[in-house]
Amino acid sequence: MTKEWKTRTQLVHEGSRRSQYGEMAEAIFLTQGFAYDSAEAAEARFIEAGEDEFIYARYGNPTVRMFEERIAAIEGTEDAFATASGMAAVSGALTSMLKAGDHVVSSRALFGSCLYVLEEVLTRFGVRVTFVDGADLAAWEAACVPDTKAVFFESMSNPTLELVDIEAVSAIAHKVGAIVVVDNVFATPIFSRAVAQGADVVVYSTTKHVDGQGRALGGVICGTKAFIRKVVEPYMKHTGGSMSPFTAWIMLNGMATLDLRCRAMAEAAARVAAVLEGDARLERVIYPGLYSHPQADLAARQMGSGGTMLAFDIKGGKAAAFRFMNALEIIKISNNLGDAKTIATHPYTTTHQRLPEAQKVALGITPGLIRLSVGLEDPEDLIADLQAGLAAV
Ligand SMILES: Cc1ncc(COP(=O)(O)O)c(C=O)c1O
Repeated sequence: MTKEWKTRTQLVHEGSRRSQYGEMAEAIFLTQGFAYDSAEAAEARFIEAGEDEFIYARYGNPTVRMFEERIAAIEGTEDAFATASGMAAVSGALTSMLKAGDHVVSSRALFGSCLYVLEEVLTRFGVRVTFVDGADLAAWEAACVPDTKAVFFESMSNPTLELVDIEAVSAIAHKVGAIVVVDNVFATPIFSRAVAQGADVVVYSTTKHVDGQGRALGGVICGTKAFIRKVVEPYMKHTGGSMSPFTAWIMLNGMATLDLRCRAMAEAAARVAAVLEGDARLERVIYPGLYSHPQADLAARQMGSGGTMLAFDIKGGKAAAFRFMNALEIIKISNNLGDAKTIATHPYTTTHQRLPEAQKVALGITPGLIRLSVGLEDPEDLIADLQAGLAAV
């Protein structure tokens, strides 16, 4: 790892491995396996593989390794393990370290699939899970007990953009010896330095900003070498959630422009939020970069930005929200985020549909709520499209 390089240089060069041809672009090693010079060499590699020695693509691959080294450098962690999707990263990070009887504390405001892993999967295997309001430090303090093994939260929640104070919650968790796992997807690797702020493990869905063009599913778990290679890797390589070399190549290419894209998208998101705030057709506009956001100070301190996502509640509920979405031209109705294309999502009927009504109410997922992932189009065109949508309400 080349620590003295700045982020944008790391995003272009870190982890590069070149074959004997000295190729400029990262090569895709589309191979499931690797030939050994002798039976003895095969035996030796299975006992312990060296830095540049690979066994099988489920265990590791040169293209995947480039991606892991690049993102670990950005994240400031010793190592990383690339996974087949963001959910493989979330479930892998937790399942690889937990056992029956362990206790986990998690914020309540989570993406539906994260909630499923914590509520339905881990509990089925005897893990006890306590959910808390992520913004309430006293609730974290009360829930973290000596047998708490892990603490999990989305640093900015999907879809209502509630922040969790990484530094404060990590300090509470560490007092009881718990491992802090942060899903940092909404904050992006550019605006958040979760490990520097106290987290132990950071997970991403690289399907989002890292790819940035909506092409491939992927994920990554970042942490210490001991955690990644001794806890995560054995679990992932034997259960099959590893990233494919082709996906790693897509992610490597995405990373070169990650910083530029996230900053341009955040700038546009701030502009859109400022225009929408105060519009009489909206109940509320949620954007952590607005002074009206209850955690604006925390967003500024923790991310130095309001991020690339915003949400707003259209008066008139589901019917009005649907009229709005159906009138959009540039902005696409979909459910990914962090894409170059701006995306409007109706969480109530799609990403969070599975949740019982009471839980949706508790999380602020109302029938009028729209989640907007701001892309790379000209912000003025986006604003015109949003205005046309609102006119149709
Ligand atoms: C906060 C959060 N975590 C995890 C995921 C899962 O990522 P993937 O779809 O790559 O499995 C998502 C996807 O929307 C997400 O929003």
